[in-house]
Amino acid sequence: MKMGVKEDMKTEEIRQYGFFDDAHREFVITEPATPFPWINYLGNEDFFSLISNTAGGYSFYKDGKFRRITRYRYNNVPMDNGGRYFYIREQETGEIWSPGWKPCKTPLDRYECRHGMGYTRITGARKGLEAEVLFFVPLHTWAEVQKVTLRNTTDKPRRFQLYSFVEWCLWNAQTDMENFQRNLNTGEVEVENGGSVIYHKTEYRERRNHYAFYAAESAVDGFDTDRERFIGMYNGFEAPEAVLAGKSRNSIAHGWSPVASHMKEVELQPGESRELVFVLGYVENPEEEKWEAPGIINKERAHALISRFATVEAVDKAFAELRAMWDGLLNIYKVKSSDERLDRMVNIWNQYQCMITFCFSRSASFFESGIGRGMGFRDSNQDLLGFVHQIPQRARQRIIDIASTQFPDGGCYHQYQPLTKRGNNDIGGGFNDDPMWLIYGTVAYIKETGDFSILDEAVPFDNVAGSEVSLMEHLCVSFNHVTENLGPHGLPLIGRADWNDCLNLNCFSTDPNESFQTTENRTEGSKAESLMIAGLFVYVGQMYVELCQQLDKTEEADRARNSIDAMKEAVKTYGWDGDWYLRAYDFFGGKIGSHENEEGKIFIESQGWCSMARIGEDERMPERALDSVKQLLDSEHGMVLNYPAYTRYHIELGEQSSYPMGYKENGGIFCHNNPWVIIGETLCGRGNDAWEHYTKIAPAWIRDQKLHRTEPYVYAQCLAGKEAALPGEAKNSWLTGTAAWNWITVTQHILGIQPTWDGLIINPCIPSTLKEYTVFRKFRDAEYTITVLNPDGKQKADEPIFIPYNTERKQITITL
Ligand code: BGC
Ligand code: NOJ
Repeated sequence: MKMGVKEDMKTEEIRQYGFFDDAHREFVITEPATPFPWINYLGNEDFFSLISNTAGGYSFYKDGKFRRITRYRYNNVPMDNGGRYFYIREQETGEIWSPGWKPCKTPLDRYECRHGMGYTRITGARKGLEAEVLFFVPLHTWAEVQKVTLRNTTDKPRRFQLYSFVEWCLWNAQTDMENFQRNLNTGEVEVENGGSVIYHKTEYRERRNHYAFYAAESAVDGFDTDRERFIGMYNGFEAPEAVLAGKSRNSIAHGWSPVASHMKEVELQPGESRELVFVLGYVENPEEEKWEAPGIINKERAHALISRFATVEAVDKAFAELRAMWDGLLNIYKVKSSDERLDRMVNIWNQYQCMITFCFSRSASFFESGIGRGMGFRDSNQDLLGFVHQIPQRARQRIIDIASTQFPDGGCYHQYQPLTKRGNNDIGGGFNDDPMWLIYGTVAYIKETGDFSILDEAVPFDNVAGSEVSLMEHLCVSFNHVTENLGPHGLPLIGRADWNDCLNLNCFSTDPNESFQTTENRTEGSKAESLMIAGLFVYVGQMYVELCQQLDKTEEADRARNSIDAMKEAVKTYGWDGDWYLRAYDFFGGKIGSHENEEGKIFIESQGWCSMARIGEDERMPERALDSVKQLLDSEHGMVLNYPAYTRYHIELGEQSSYPMGYKENGGIFCHNNPWVIIGETLCGRGNDAWEHYTKIAPAWIRDQKLHRTEPYVYAQCLAGKEAALPGEAKNSWLTGTAAWNWITVTQHILGIQPTWDGLIINPCIPSTLKEYTVFRKFRDAEYTITVLNPDGKQKADEPIFIPYNTERKQITITL
């Protein structure tokens, strides 16, 4: 039965929904009913939109929880319902349809959605009338701009109405979904120029100094701001009464649910086309400039913003600027090889996803509601590994923000809120891998930029003024946090959990109403130790040693080296299971991830980190561990996290064993940790194995879009593992550390171009079938063109090559 389902899903459905257009850096969706909504992100530093391939999604300013601009209902039926919608009502027939297919779902003769770098272009055509909508957020602008192009491709004049539509969120996305006894009374709007500009000003009368607007750049023939008047009490988005009737109600919302809709009458002669512009914007006013007259909001800033996009030429110019920005970002690291899928990942989609995860951490996607998690301490440090080459100044600020949430003992809040930059008390701290990531992030930044001055920045603890010490001091307490929290075997105590948030060895939860992450963390008497943190400590600790050497802190370097050596010994003595590294010791000192266990005999994280750290290399431990991974964890769709998966809930293991077999942290293919094994393989010189693992999870190699379900152009956090009902199904796309880790893996360890303190190291580890490639790499103020030739089909260079940094352009060719 299980096999049967899987077999059905192969064959003709493969790549049925869309394809890559690399020349334009786009993924082109050709069928609107994708297996899951396939989304894109629009935005810059402050204003963001999520947009699906049928124009669903929402916008917010900075914070998906506190400043939600348009409303979105997660968990809806159908799933992706609500967005920025356009409706066309044909004059002659009264038929209504939408260019993005949804919400009307009237069959289209042609549909196409092009997701590009920071923009989405959706085109629908019916009976010779074509409507194309370009959505983007211009650089440094608090607005989403929508350019609608209407074309009559027939030989008869066409008369129709165009309706726009958005639904306002009452700012706080959480209370917007909960507190109806208040919400249904607070809604307020203003309307200007006969409805061409609709302002949403709920709560502006009291403590808010911001409002939103939806503007049509030219005069309109009708408008609506009250949802019920526009849609009707018993209709859905697919059949608004006003559109069906062909008549806007010119309604003014008082409470209930404010919306914004414009209506324009359009007539197009044969062959004629017309372009219209809509702007969905956000404005903040200083307290003393809030009002124009009593009760009338000050619209000056809105007018200024609207007038910036008053002409189609201005919109096109803003769009060209956005594209130029992406050209610049994607020109920093480029590869040209004989494998277009490799080039596609490296040059386009992997880098794009890195930027998005850097901006959003884990806050807002179609799997993260935008109201839950803020910025993760470990997450953001990892995200910047994949982003730092793009805009290092932003990475620098991020490092300082993150470090400011650390505690004096090196521990830290697990998350902080982007709007306030304060640590999140609800989740607290105690995840003992967290501090190490700060060292990793900072070192990556310095290696990329050569900017050691970041280490001298005065950074507070827990954002308390007066507590500032240098960032270098923060790194020192981070390092010490591990050495000061060792367990009975001299291995790191795990705390609440390590990278695997669900390995909760000190929580013993019996209450379904409590969160595994925040419930009791029994540190007293706990012997729970983590081999993942041990490997991480050795790997990142070596970076710390090098950093101290760079700064001539010889004593500190020696001290750190001693701790690292001791950790290596502890792993070899107490962390080796015979054929692989153990995963952990539990609260009572029992083994986890051992052949002695009945289930969960082997885990991926410790194999990855301990082999990256080369622990026990004289005994060939890394090679042996990675062979075991291949034998026991690998599968057609990638490597699972643990095997065999847990069949039941184990109170002493926590959330991990709460998941059904084959899902998420219990035997799922957790894409985030596959790269650690791949890097481990490259350090063993096994380029073919590394490549096989890499291509199993990289989006450009997805063979079956229907089985995979989520976007085929970005990584998902996890895929159902080999013990799941339907192996290979992906979930939790976009916001995952997978993006950064695969970027590091492919660019630094497979293609092998690694930034280091004073230059680049070239150390490829490639499949023997890859005979030649060229990498163009901007590095600080220098530009390198590095060609790697592999005529003999080798997998690795004999020796890494070091190229010192200097500002001249360098052409380098090496032969393996
Ligand atoms: C887990 C969640 C957990 C979260 C915490 C996820 O990977 O599956 O259940 O709450 O991590 O960050
Ligand atoms: C998601 C979290 O954001 C990340 O920090 C964690 O490492 C993984 N889950 C694995 O549990």
